[in-house]
Amino acid sequence: MSLKKELCISVMNSKIENLSLKRELGLVSAVSLIAGTMIGSGIFMSPQSVLVNIGSPGGSLVIWAACGLLAALACLCYAELGTVIRESGGEYIYILRTSGPVLAFMLIFSSVIFVRPASVAGISLSFAEYAVAPFYPDCPAPQLVVKCVAAAGIVVTAIVNCLNVRFAMSLQVFFMVAKVFGLSIIIIGGVVLFVKGENNSLTDSFKGTNVGINPIGIAFYQGLWSYDGWNNLNYVTEELKRPEVNLPRAIMIAIPMVTLLYLLVNVSYLAAMTPNELMSSSAVAVTWGNKVLGSWGWVMSIAAALSAFGSLNGTFFSGGRVCFVAARERHLPDILAMAHVKRLTPSPALIFTTAISLLVLIPGDFQSIVNFFSFTAWFFYAITLSGLLYLKIKKPELPRPYRVPIVIPVLVIMAAIFLVLAPIIDNPAIEYLYVTLFIFSSILIYVPFIHYKFCPGILDKLTVFLQLFLEVAPAEKNL
Ligand code: ARG
Repeated sequence: MSLKKELCISVMNSKIENLSLKRELGLVSAVSLIAGTMIGSGIFMSPQSVLVNIGSPGGSLVIWAACGLLAALACLCYAELGTVIRESGGEYIYILRTSGPVLAFMLIFSSVIFVRPASVAGISLSFAEYAVAPFYPDCPAPQLVVKCVAAAGIVVTAIVNCLNVRFAMSLQVFFMVAKVFGLSIIIIGGVVLFVKGENNSLTDSFKGTNVGINPIGIAFYQGLWSYDGWNNLNYVTEELKRPEVNLPRAIMIAIPMVTLLYLLVNVSYLAAMTPNELMSSSAVAVTWGNKVLGSWGWVMSIAAALSAFGSLNGTFFSGGRVCFVAARERHLPDILAMAHVKRLTPSPALIFTTAISLLVLIPGDFQSIVNFFSFTAWFFYAITLSGLLYLKIKKPELPRPYRVPIVIPVLVIMAAIFLVLAPIIDNPAIEYLYVTLFIFSSILIYVPFIHYKFCPGILDKLTVFLQLFLEVAPAEKNL
């Protein structure tokens, strides 16, 4: 037998047992997994677009609070889902178990091809905007520079995550400290401004509020981006110790904490700047830093860049998990669920996400990426929560360590329907039609490849080639 064939067989047969995941996450890790993903780019990028869309500082604070409330209510529903369906995989597994394989495939297809790369691209743009801000003190940085730095950020994070899981995890802790530090400076600065009686935008604060459906919807999209990640723990429930206790508890600690931080930071931004200053700033924390910290303003760019970088790292880190679950259900090519034989990192999924994220980055700007992301994400959150209603009505006998009153999923579904329709109702942008067509185009792939299990010979050859080239093998996963 040729060496190549032998190697191929040995790589194919070696299951990576160490990668089987154990219940290791306690309450503290669970809270940081949620809060650490939520706090990233949004709080440093979105306040400006929320204000532009809603039109007034008071309206903007109401949107930020309402987004926190919506994330909290949605999270309570996910707490019940996560304790009834105890598998990892978040929306994917909930939709699969309640609404069937077609919708679950639509979700995983959209998530692998668009939603995750879009979040990587969006966060990396925020990282880049802040990383280059100190070099362009008097004008916005050129788009080409921002995009090149964003691309470099994506590639570096992907390499780190491909090389070493432990190192990627320790970076996460470092970045977490940077974000909390950055947000605390902003909050303390805000308190000082208030004590001095400076509150630039907070008098007559509801003047000019836009009450149109479209601006409210888009303001929510931008605000909800900052809260996205509230569902992160549900991706890894199989790794959580005592999920029936720790899942609801972690949610109840993390979401109010992040909401309070976000509200205080926004109050501080509004105290330091006039609405016009805030709206015309491309990096709001830098403008804040320059006004409040003077020559120390650059500290804010570093804190905000590190915060976004941490979120990027976390998004790459948890991304591989959903691929494992979907490949286990044979909804994704096996290669995407394989891990490096020595390093135990899910390199194929990481490389694939990197490639698509770079493509999204080329035409995309932060705001449109966030809007399309939120549109798609809330479409699937609505389907997931309809699954919860189905379980509550049709399967009341299932054991439920945590129960959410039925009115909460009903309210969140109504909000999600509003969110999905709002940008389409008055002033529809054609791009939302493209996104919808894209989501439904997954059915064209589902029928031959999943339903009829058509597998062209070339795919097997490609898998073997990639396995040898990347030195990866199927990873085992425990339940
Ligand atoms: N909330 C994060 C931020 O403000 C974005 C999270 C994107 N979603 C995710 N699941 N990683 O940057």
